[in-house]
Amino acid sequence: MKKIVVSTGGGDAPGLNAVIYSVVHICYRKGWEVYGSKNGYGGFLDIDEMVRLYPRDVEGIYSTGGTILGSTSKGNPFARPVQNLAGEIQIVDVSDKILRNFNRMGFDCHIAIGGDGSLDIAHKFALKGMPVIGVPKTIDNDLEETDRTFGFDTAVSTATEALDKLHSTAKSHNRVMVVEVMGRDSGWIALYSGISGGADVILIPEIPFDMEEVCEKISDNELHDKHYSIVVVAEGAVTKDGRNFNKGMGELGREEVILGGVGEWVASEIRKKTDKDTRSLVLGHLQRGGSPTTFDRLLALRFGAAAVRLVQEKVFDHMVALKNGIMVPVPIADAIKRRKKVDFSSDKIRTARDIGICLGDKEPGVE
Ligand code: F6P
Repeated sequence: MKKIVVSTGGGDAPGLNAVIYSVVHICYRKGWEVYGSKNGYGGFLDIDEMVRLYPRDVEGIYSTGGTILGSTSKGNPFARPVQNLAGEIQIVDVSDKILRNFNRMGFDCHIAIGGDGSLDIAHKFALKGMPVIGVPKTIDNDLEETDRTFGFDTAVSTATEALDKLHSTAKSHNRVMVVEVMGRDSGWIALYSGISGGADVILIPEIPFDMEEVCEKISDNELHDKHYSIVVVAEGAVTKDGRNFNKGMGELGREEVILGGVGEWVASEIRKKTDKDTRSLVLGHLQRGGSPTTFDRLLALRFGAAAVRLVQEKVFDHMVALKNGIMVPVPIADAIKRRKKVDFSSDKIRTARDIGICLGDKEPGVE
């Protein structure tokens, strides 16, 4: 008999609920108790935020977006901003309290579902003595040591569907449509959706872009009697002279800048340089919403099952990962070392170039 606690941290991603579903059902069948900590580590600090989960509580949730436990991107327990009586903000470390409560509540293991930020926190707790198992979540697909994170496939499908819809309006008005997609400092969503959605130009953070190359592609389209173009730009894309685009730190307690603005900037440059009617849109949080695709559901359910196996085997401070189709444990420390980037030599990059998609640079080997 074991007592497990599950938490979801960072930005939500389609498939979170499927992991919870899987963990709750499997543990119940083993006679283990499962609890959910609300809003990240909320349940460790406030007992009202710790909920017992039975199969009836998770009925049908494998197909829903979001997380029934709630999540937060500003809840680092090792550096929590708190307002003191004088109204000043102080950074407080509440990790000892959380560990104490974890032990007091008699938990055997914490299954932390999250991206690199949440897994970094989980790893720090593991170093303090908390038995932790990580489950890789993020629409950005930027976690090392796993071929895929759940949420990515759904985000790509949403972005691709949006691109499909933009073709008809762009064509009807002979316009350039610039679409900014998420992905932080990695270009996975932009590349996968851009290729699948018939983009003329795809700009990803891994390849600093040159507006001359972008505009040349648009003009080239004109010469070939194609009077509209679709440009997909990743929110973290940077110009070749190092300009990046963000909206500052946002809410108190956030540890990451809010990226955004590159799409509008690219659109205005195209307008200036080509005289084409150009519009831009930001797909934003639409990419995080909705029901997980079959791929993401299955992956999330498998991750949940693999995580429970690791609890049984006591393989702590590890994350479940998908490698070459199978579930394997990898040290959390390895998964969070750096963010996974698109590989220049990958077949997807090659395919994009072969099709004639401009990636914002001078195509290698072409004068
Ligand atoms: O990491 C997921 C993600 O959606 C990124 O693609 C994006 O940059 C970020 O989260 C947005 O975060 P928030 O919802 O906190 O603004």
